[in-house]
Amino acid sequence: PEAITVSELANRMTERVADVVKSLMQNGIMATSTQTIDADTAELVIEEFGHKVQRVSDADVEDVIQQVEDAPEDLEPRAPVVTIMGHVDHGKTSLLDAIRNARVAGGEAGGITQHIGAYQVEQDGKALTFLDTPGHAAFTAMRARGAQVTDIVVLVVAADDAVMPQTVEAINHARAAEVPMIVAINKVDRPGANPDKVRTDLLQHEVIVEKMSGDVQDVEVSATEGTGIDALLEAIALQAEILELKANPNRAAVGAVVEAQLDVGRGPVATVLVQNGTLKQGDIFVVGEQWGKVRAMENDQGKRVKSAGPSVPVEVLGLNGTPAAGDVLNVVDTEAQAREIAEFRAAQAKDKRAAAGAAMTLEQMMSKA
Ligand code: GTP
Ligand code: MG
Repeated sequence: PEAITVSELANRMTERVADVVKSLMQNGIMATSTQTIDADTAELVIEEFGHKVQRVSDADVEDVIQQVEDAPEDLEPRAPVVTIMGHVDHGKTSLLDAIRNARVAGGEAGGITQHIGAYQVEQDGKALTFLDTPGHAAFTAMRARGAQVTDIVVLVVAADDAVMPQTVEAINHARAAEVPMIVAINKVDRPGANPDKVRTDLLQHEVIVEKMSGDVQDVEVSATEGTGIDALLEAIALQAEILELKANPNRAAVGAVVEAQLDVGRGPVATVLVQNGTLKQGDIFVVGEQWGKVRAMENDQGKRVKSAGPSVPVEVLGLNGTPAAGDVLNVVDTEAQAREIAEFRAAQAKDKRAAAGAAMTLEQMMSKA
């Protein structure tokens, strides 16, 4: 169960280790700084030093970041979050570029650089959010962490290569996540392009596209020529309409980290996709094992914003550490809560790693014997 080393306990109380050891001794417990004491003993010591005992448990964490069920009348339509997946070199990045370029105001085509790994475009006055980063590994990691970020998967299949191993993986990911798929048959400009081969290949994986009388939308595109992009965006908008995606913009924000890194000048920076509520400058949050206070936010075009609502990706500054892709962000009331939850999670993760390490050593010992 719960336990803590003497030095860690001293650390958390900001007391000297020697004083803690002495206090333990007075209670008849002989322990050195590296030794572990149980939670009850720790509580005794903490009280003796005149501190308040605050045991954080999974239940407490759940309490603080509780996902209050939104009342139906509080829900408003939100943009779909679209992830592009497919086999290596089938044109995922090119397609994302083509979509963005198709939606950039005429004169500026190609002039607007994308600042973060996600962006929004407009289709018939409605926003669509595209995620750039999730390769298959990131997608899996996100789902493992419980962050379901994608509403629609666009499966890119090159018409000159047809269905390949990672195409099948992507199909399986979309199925496991239970999100609808749209097939973008790419590179139709290529001399050897055979879109129908893609369609028949997909049949073998139980993906039946509309042209084969199924219900999965299929669109022929050329990312490099820019053809079929409008049709693809229409297909996405249509699929989104069917999903009737909604969120409550008037609540504490919940989001997911799309990517994060330590920036030399700015410190830890995370691209966060807001999934529910509205993230505002000054908000205090916990994200995975880290916490922070929103110091500044930038949108996908590098512009400062003061708030970000559902389905909006933003770059967030003000973290105390670098979170992992897929970590869930929850806005909480106080810094104390944020810090406590983050520390609790970090300690838990440390315990898990230690346990895994111990098991490994035992295994290694056994294999050597
Ligand atoms: P990875 O990220 O490495 O998995 O690749 P990707 O799926 O992002 O493919 P990418 O967009 O990098 O495209 C791979 C190659 O195919 C590049 O050389 C592109 O220029 C080319 N390509 C992509 N789309 C098209 C297309 O529609 N037509 C033609 N002719 N070439 C394309
Ligand atoms: Mg790519």
